[in-house]
Amino acid sequence: MKKTQPIGIFDSGIGGTSIFKEIHALLPLEDIIYLADSINAPYGIKSREKIIALSKKNTELLLKNGCKIIVVACNTATTNAIGFLRNNYNVPIIGIEPAIKPAALKTKRKAIGILATKGTLSSELFHKTSGLFAKDIEVIEVIGSGLVEAIEAGKENSASTKKLLEVLLQPMLAKNIDYLVLGCSHYPYLIPILKEILLKDIIIIDSGEAVARQTKFILNSLGLLNEAQKKTSISFYTNKSPEILKHFVPNHPVQYLDF
Ligand code: DGL
Repeated sequence: MKKTQPIGIFDSGIGGTSIFKEIHALLPLEDIIYLADSINAPYGIKSREKIIALSKKNTELLLKNGCKIIVVACNTATTNAIGFLRNNYNVPIIGIEPAIKPAALKTKRKAIGILATKGTLSSELFHKTSGLFAKDIEVIEVIGSGLVEAIEAGKENSASTKKLLEVLLQPMLAKNIDYLVLGCSHYPYLIPILKEILLKDIIIIDSGEAVARQTKFILNSLGLLNEAQKKTSISFYTNKSPEILKHFVPNHPVQYLDF
């Protein structure tokens, strides 16, 4: 493995671009290949077997393109497929999980909300983490039905998405949460409307920055950080509409690829 090989990132669609932005900001000298599997979004309503098969397909394409590390920028794929990926591929695999631990440690009202997909909330890994860190507090889990579809359609700021969120967040507000954990990499794009809906004293947490730090830590510990000064290559591929992906990464070229 060479330091100059790219970092590979995949998500069920555009959501992982929120993770890409954190990684690119922290590791500006790294080449990056990003795959948006938007044709198959949302992953969150699919079976575990299907999510594993899709994660395998994305990982193999990134490895074929020489990636030195894979970042699974999707909570649903991480919580359902990371064990499979780590057992089957000989490269470091970084995942993203809902940030239950910091929210559970910091909550004063002993009530936190987790907004995530059905696939994440029903996964064994999520239950294990939740059982470990959130034993003594109330955890209000809400499936973000319809949110990934709205964001994939570029409607992250629309009145209809705001209405949908108002309904989804109701059970959390009723329980007086003080932390809201965004358990899906698409959801950081909802932060502007979330801030309009939520009371000022509710803190929103997502895992993007932690994933970037972990990626840097692992690359550094393996001697794989790219420290060379050069023009970096950042490639975005989508198997659906390049316009939608471009809307979320306007400063980078986006290409259609059938994968
Ligand atoms: N970005 C994915 C996640 O973090 C969205 C899942 C989906 O496609 O439903 O869970």
